[in-house]
Amino acid sequence: MSKQFDVAVIGAGAAGMMCAAVAGQRGKRVVLIDHASRLAEKIRISGGGRCNFTNLHAGPANFLSENPHFCKSALSRYTPQDFLSLMKRHGIAWHEKHKGQLFCDDSAEDIIRMLKAECDAAKVQWRMPCSINEITAIEGGGFSLATSTGDIVVDSVVVATGGLSIPKIGATDFAHKIARQFGIKVIEPRPALVPLTFDAASWEPFVPLSGISLEVDIETGDKKSRMTFREDLLFTHKGLSGPGVLQISSYWQPGTAIRINLLPEVDVAAALIEAKTSTKKNLANHMAQYLPARLVDGLLLAHGFDGDQKIADMPDKRLRLLGEKLNRWELVPNGSEGYRKAEVTRGGIDTRALSQQSMMVTKVPGLYFIGESVDVTGWLGGFNFQWAWASGTAAGLAL
Ligand code: FDA
Repeated sequence: MSKQFDVAVIGAGAAGMMCAAVAGQRGKRVVLIDHASRLAEKIRISGGGRCNFTNLHAGPANFLSENPHFCKSALSRYTPQDFLSLMKRHGIAWHEKHKGQLFCDDSAEDIIRMLKAECDAAKVQWRMPCSINEITAIEGGGFSLATSTGDIVVDSVVVATGGLSIPKIGATDFAHKIARQFGIKVIEPRPALVPLTFDAASWEPFVPLSGISLEVDIETGDKKSRMTFREDLLFTHKGLSGPGVLQISSYWQPGTAIRINLLPEVDVAAALIEAKTSTKKNLANHMAQYLPARLVDGLLLAHGFDGDQKIADMPDKRLRLLGEKLNRWELVPNGSEGYRKAEVTRGGIDTRALSQQSMMVTKVPGLYFIGESVDVTGWLGGFNFQWAWASGTAAGLAL
């Protein structure tokens, strides 16, 4: 069969569209295939509809991978400033929200329109909705794709089908299946950037706190693996969410504890012991200077303290115990809310199989993996899109 295309990019999401546009603009004949009928659903729902499209401070330290060095090359060759230049050419307005996180002023749709326009300018051909039944390597080079809209023969295949999170909008394990077919290791996938849950009985005392949010220090791991974030935490009916918890969930290992400092700026035990001589207040009223009253009442009850007790009457030992519960609250999640709620998938295609310059599988010339399918997982805050743009560009330039 004659070749109509040089490259098939599978997955018209963030990384796939970027890669197709870059390769197409370099003169490659690109077909972009997606099984969904709506383009780039994850971009559309990202950042609350405004897409946190990059982070000004993106660097290798903001990514998890079994090989933390792998992402360096692509990230340094396509930076947040490069993406901002692209947006400027398309007249898309943006603003910085928090810690370098950049959002569209108007809508995530602007990013989708921009990437579609870049692909169209590069004469990328679309096959959507279209599913791939089989990919076969052709002896002597190239690949044959059996698809729901007919067979396609190409020199190169780029797998950009993303991770497993949010199956209801089309996430699949396609990349993992292709990896297994070609003998490429997959680092065990796990939901990441995800709310954490606790067993119902141990969480019950905290259920009345659901909806309360506050800035905390949250950490997990020990010694070398210790990771800490200062971000907001949100109590939910099932457990904990909010940016701080999502961040720590990516580092949390099942069966281990997380530690939360609910009052990072106050040494609670020392402050309470000192207050014994200077205040006639009861515990709840005194604590209300540090935390919202509803949170104080709920926490005191949950941890077995009587809020009506006068601080002056409380033994130092009890005050130290309360300090421990507020400054170093240790708890063991029983799991997470899973792929249904996870923003990303940790793990994926083992980077040791890929060239860090091109994202090509070194043992299978012509086969590439990009974006979230690869074992490179960003923090919350625009880092995952920056990886999609950077890895998509790296492959697009190498094809
Ligand atoms: P992406 O998921 O974008 O695209 C994969 C494409 O492959 C999809 O179009 C899918 O339909 C297609 N596909 C899947 N299986 C297929 C198959 N078998 N055959 C054909 N096509 C197939 N990140 C960030 O940096 N800032 C943010 O604000 C957010 N916000 C956010 C919110 C929510 C709710 C989620 C779930 C995720 C985020 N993210 C994020 C993460 C970000 O969306 C994600 O990391 C990138 O979209 C990954 O880009 P990819 O191109 O790799 O996959």
